[in-house]
Amino acid sequence: MPLILETIVTTLNADGTAHLVPFGLIAEDDAYVVAPFRPSPTITNLERHPFLAAASPLDVRVIAGCVTGRRDWATVPCERIDGVRLAQAHAHMELAVEAVMEDALRPRYRCRVVHQAMHAPFLGYVRARNAVIEAAILSTRLHLLPAEKIEAEMAYLAIAIAKTAGPAEAEAWRWIEEKIRTGLGAARNPSAEERPPSPSGPQHKETSR
Ligand SMILES: Cc1cc2nc3c(=O)[nH]c(=O)nc-3n(C[C@H](O)[C@H](O)[C@H](O)COP(=O)(O)O)c2cc1C
Repeated sequence: MPLILETIVTTLNADGTAHLVPFGLIAEDDAYVVAPFRPSPTITNLERHPFLAAASPLDVRVIAGCVTGRRDWATVPCERIDGVRLAQAHAHMELAVEAVMEDALRPRYRCRVVHQAMHAPFLGYVRARNAVIEAAILSTRLHLLPAEKIEAEMAYLAIAIAKTAGPAEAEAWRWIEEKIRTGLGAARNPSAEERPPSPSGPQHKETSR
């Protein structure tokens, strides 16, 4: 089992703007591997400009926000690569792609650390932040996991939220909860166009689960 650091990865879009996304960096000797599933703007960006920054956010809302359509977080220029990194971070690394392992589903980009710096002290683990990270990952796998598993895991993670969340963690949790509720609702109640034809004609009533 490799060590994986959960970070906010920043790559540059073609127009020079930043693409922020949570990614796990897989530790491999003294390098890190980024493995985005296709299709992915991160892949497009790395193919054009093979540099990225990876930051540990001060605010867990950045992670929850990036997977719920809230990607507008402040960035600052990197020091050794042409790129930007998340501004509010405990620390960040600047990385250069040194090898690409092509794959139809999930290519792997092995990256060399060009530079790293600390910006704010890390004072302690917070269970609610970990819970938000777990829930954020679940929210990106709604199409892969059974609804019952997602609901059971959310119920367990909610305990840490209830016991240890501050206002930021509570807000991040609400964003993820809403995404999951909407996603699971859509899967269970497909719209009229997606619904298979009713066997008993227009009078047929759907039973709820
Ligand atoms: C903590 C965390 C770690 C993640 N790690 C990965 C990863 O390693 N690879 C991946 O494809 N998606 C990962 N995801 C999901 C992506 O963040 C999400 O699918 C994103 O929209 C894909 O990025 P893209 O916009 O470059 O396609 C992770 C999500 C979270 C919350």
